[in-house]
Amino acid sequence: MSNKMWGGRFGESPDAIMEEINVSIDVDQHLYAQDIAASKAHAAMLAAQGIITASDAKNITNGLDTILSEIKAGRFTFKRALEDIHMNVESRLGELIGPAAGRLHTARSRNDQVATDFRLYVRDAIDSFDADLASLQRALVKRALEHAATVMPGFTHLQTAQPVTFGHHLLAYVEMVGRDRGRFTDARKRLNESPLGAAALAGTSFPIDRRATAAALGFERPMGNSLDAVSDRDFVLETLAACSIAAMHLSRFAEEIVIWTSPLVGLVHLSDKFTTGSSIMPQKRNPDAAELVRAKTGRIIGSLTALLIVMKGLPLAYQKDMQEDKAGAMEAFAALSLAVRAITGMVLDLEPDEARMKVAAGEGYATATDLADWLVRTLKMPFREAHHVTGRIVSKAAEAGVALHKLPLADMQAVEPAITDAVFGVLSVEASVNSRTSFGGTAPENVRGQAKNWLMRLEKEQKST
Ligand code: ARG
Repeated sequence: MSNKMWGGRFGESPDAIMEEINVSIDVDQHLYAQDIAASKAHAAMLAAQGIITASDAKNITNGLDTILSEIKAGRFTFKRALEDIHMNVESRLGELIGPAAGRLHTARSRNDQVATDFRLYVRDAIDSFDADLASLQRALVKRALEHAATVMPGFTHLQTAQPVTFGHHLLAYVEMVGRDRGRFTDARKRLNESPLGAAALAGTSFPIDRRATAAALGFERPMGNSLDAVSDRDFVLETLAACSIAAMHLSRFAEEIVIWTSPLVGLVHLSDKFTTGSSIMPQKRNPDAAELVRAKTGRIIGSLTALLIVMKGLPLAYQKDMQEDKAGAMEAFAALSLAVRAITGMVLDLEPDEARMKVAAGEGYATATDLADWLVRTLKMPFREAHHVTGRIVSKAAEAGVALHKLPLADMQAVEPAITDAVFGVLSVEASVNSRTSFGGTAPENVRGQAKNWLMRLEKEQKST
């Protein structure tokens, strides 16, 4: 039996391998809600323009509603012989309402149909990322407020650098996630134009109203060029790029959780809820969720590069290559959504070991910069000279095997006679973080202020949605 959608020209049915490589229903069945919504908008417009009768449009709409409930209830049989979601729906419509079903495809093609469906799908994914990322920000801000004054070591090169507060560290991710959300919002703006009515590639001779279908589907406007409308997938690429950057951020936080929870470091504890045990080593508490968030980044970035490679060099307009856009994107969206929710769970679960953090913050002469700054401020020494003097004091402390604030004043004065015991006021880790009040700095009062600002913004947007 030849395909009933194009059987006029075809006498034979496809080879089994032809069908296997061509079929996309396993993937695009996830577009059923978008496909049906777009068909309903199209049918209503065709009737409003006098292209089909009002009674045909009514039957089509009712039939589509029936199909929607059949699919939702799991009572719909997707047929591989019908290739994709568009033909599965249309064929079922024919069974339900008869020949009028054949009028639905007037003035459209599967090319503009699939481009429309997938834009709607990606738009939904963006909206759900935005909501999930907002929850992550709220979780981070909550914990940042709790730990605005909890001192921890700050690192560069993963070497102890200067004391910071744990709240400040968490707020760094609130900022990153804020920009991630901005990238999704930007992508959504450019994505939100309707391809429907571009038909196969050239537009149509029927007097369609593309503004009406665009508005019915929540698009800002119809796309201005029919060739572009059916042939670009930049909206998927841009969204996957935003996903990749967001996933990269999450992977860094995940990696920090892995480091912090290692017994070698021991700065943070995760509960049983977000760890797993080992089948052989009874003492183990593994941060699997964090490791998997770190790893999910691979398939998310992979799907971006895969689609870039699919699209690269494709001539206009629609090419079947583009059917390969969906599986990777759907997989990436699912991975990112899970990763965001897992990180959010860990943020709410984790407990810093405050005593250990404080000790670690003072290790490795982390307040050496505070000593140098004191020399600049109090003795009016040029910073470069202060850096040198401090370096010599640090080596004395290292020789004596003591922390900076435990080095006797006389030893410091042996290096720089003008030093007084007032210097001890800046050498503790608390004094260090308290002094860092420059805008965006780590001082607890700054962190509280920034966290409260974020909290207000996040609560306000939550109310408005
Ligand atoms: N399954 C196709 C896709 O995802 C739908 C469009 C098919 N168009 C065509 N001319 N064969 O791209």
